[in-house]
Amino acid sequence: MIIVLCGYMGSGKSLIANLLSRELNFEFRDLDDEIAKVDGRHIPDIFEQKGEIYFRKLEMKVLQDCLGSKEDTVLALGGGTPCYGQNLKLIQANKNVRSVYLKMQLKALTDRLFEERATRPLIAKFDQKEILNDYIRKHLFERQFYYLQSEHTVDCSQATPAAIVKTITEKLAL
Ligand code: S3P
Repeated sequence: MIIVLCGYMGSGKSLIANLLSRELNFEFRDLDDEIAKVDGRHIPDIFEQKGEIYFRKLEMKVLQDCLGSKEDTVLALGGGTPCYGQNLKLIQANKNVRSVYLKMQLKALTDRLFEERATRPLIAKFDQKEILNDYIRKHLFERQFYYLQSEHTVDCSQATPAAIVKTITEKLAL
């Protein structure tokens, strides 16, 4: 079984995937790390040197590979993964894949991402919190259409990582 975690940047996908994988004794994979491994560059360098379209094509290929794994895996997606190309279809069509949306409120995302923006190519340019907040509001509105097609949604804004992991295992009946 492959459990994919999706959600906006800064929603804790990698941390929760890591903890969940330990809890279930599954392998942990992070799609961004897999992309960086295949390409040989860090994600911000891929965006800067090759552009977003190159990144999205590579993202789809690496996702396909990860979804084909026979190992029990918890896979943290990138924030944009379900929103591009055939990615959502690939996830939904695979009977071996379960999907969970880690949902966080706008304010929590803005607070967290404002501190971390330098390492994130899509938001590195925002040096005022209000402008970043407006960007995330619109972007999240567009992306939720895709995120909400996950099998389950878990509200993560107030919960501890351990509580989120517990909720996911319960929802997936694992
Ligand atoms: C992106 C999110 C990033 C990474 C890339 C694009 C996005 O992953 O895939 O910078 O489009 O939201 P995280 O959500 O893990 O930061």
